[in-house]
Amino acid sequence: MNEKKFLTLWNKYGQEHLIAHYKKLSKADKNIFLGSMEGLDFDLVFKLYSLFCQSESARLLEKIEPARIITLPSSPEEIYLRNKALALGKSMMRNNKIAVLIAAGGQGSRLRFDGPKGTFPVTTVKRKSLFQLFSETIRALSIWYHTTIPLLIMTSEDNHNDTIAYFNINDYFGLDRKSIYFFKQSMLPSITPGGKLVLKDKTHLFVNPDGHGGVFKALLHSGLLKDLQDQGISDIFYCQIDNPLVKIADPLFIGYHKMYQAEISTKVVRRKNAEEKVGIYLSLDGKDTVVEYSDSFAKKIMSVLDKDGNLLYWAGNIAIHMLNISFIEWLNAQGLNLPYHRAIKNIQTVDERGNPVTTTGWKFETFIFDAIPLANKTCCMEAVREEEFSPIKNKDGENSQEIVRRDMNNFYRKWLQEAGFMVPQDINIEISPLFAIDKDELKEKLKGKSLSFEKDIYLGENFTV
Ligand code: UD1
Repeated sequence: MNEKKFLTLWNKYGQEHLIAHYKKLSKADKNIFLGSMEGLDFDLVFKLYSLFCQSESARLLEKIEPARIITLPSSPEEIYLRNKALALGKSMMRNNKIAVLIAAGGQGSRLRFDGPKGTFPVTTVKRKSLFQLFSETIRALSIWYHTTIPLLIMTSEDNHNDTIAYFNINDYFGLDRKSIYFFKQSMLPSITPGGKLVLKDKTHLFVNPDGHGGVFKALLHSGLLKDLQDQGISDIFYCQIDNPLVKIADPLFIGYHKMYQAEISTKVVRRKNAEEKVGIYLSLDGKDTVVEYSDSFAKKIMSVLDKDGNLLYWAGNIAIHMLNISFIEWLNAQGLNLPYHRAIKNIQTVDERGNPVTTTGWKFETFIFDAIPLANKTCCMEAVREEEFSPIKNKDGENSQEIVRRDMNNFYRKWLQEAGFMVPQDINIEISPLFAIDKDELKEKLKGKSLSFEKDIYLGENFTV
């Protein structure tokens, strides 16, 4: 722990308040404080700070147009292509070419839930957590494809130990411990609009995860990238912890990604309305790109209509990607030229006397989808919102647990309906992935059977009819 290094650094960047605070600490606390700062990239934070202090430079663009997207098939050619992609995706799964990665390193502050977001009890009847639901899906898929699908969980310093402890006490939800990999993304110090680093408590600075774009660096530095290559994995199915409807390792998506030899692929849904808080997938200067809803540029395009009065840029990013392993390697070799974004947040900190105070902080992050325009080949496919997207983000209102459970009930109700069962609206339904991985398997299992719907219905692993 190098005291001189940090004192010189703080001096250089005008952080006298930290020097004064540090000098008042006991020897033991000084060591904790210094230790907690090892590995944090202060030069980067101050570089970004001065960059964001300058006025935002306008984008000089030549051409904005809707991107080429594989929409839901209607013509015989499109259906033929779809079936081909599906078969290709299934063979990739069977041949053990795909790993699943869940980004679960965020802070989930909008949900106001104490603990890693993955431990949130989300399902409609059994209140299984997001982690349990995803793990059971991986187990079911591994059985289905007669393989072992590696599951990678990206955490951050904030929730790494809690996440591992949670899996541990739940016996990894029946997954083989050796096929789950937990790896941490990096953290970056937050900073006030006046350029001051802030204390989280007496011996720690306030830091934030470096955004899900940190996944590329974290995969390399954890050694996982090499590990996956050694196992013969060629591509990663990426999703975020907040969407319980995600079709994990969707063979159709995998198939299209491979068919188009894409380096990075994305799933989109039709945006609900101009204001919906989703990134917009479009083409900028001939390159596929996601423009984040909070970006000032988004305002210029989010309400543009086509000649029929529909949103011209209709494709909303649902944060589901396929990532080619060689592309991740290449990105790292290029020095990861992902742009940084700034989020302005309320952060809980302490004053010089250790009393809690709320202050405004800037946090800097990179986004995974900023890798899309860096790729030579990309692929984007339309998904049906009701079947694949209902993220849990807020405590109340839109994207809250209430809405997500409503959507999950509707999702399973439709499966049962297609299997010939009409379930009343007021009944909660949950179907474990270990009972049926999709609606076809459900139909098959329930053929010629009868079910009663007087109370909430749960079709689980050991359910017999
Ligand atoms: C995100 C997308 C948006 C997309 C929407 C769909 C970003 C910046 N925008 O918006 O384009 O339409 O989801 O739901 O992502 N995470 C990490 N590490 C981090 C930051 C986030 O693992 O450092 C994970 C979180 O656990 C979270 C997810 O990424 O589950 C989404 O992050 P969030 O900041 O909530 O993005 P949104 O604003 O919801």
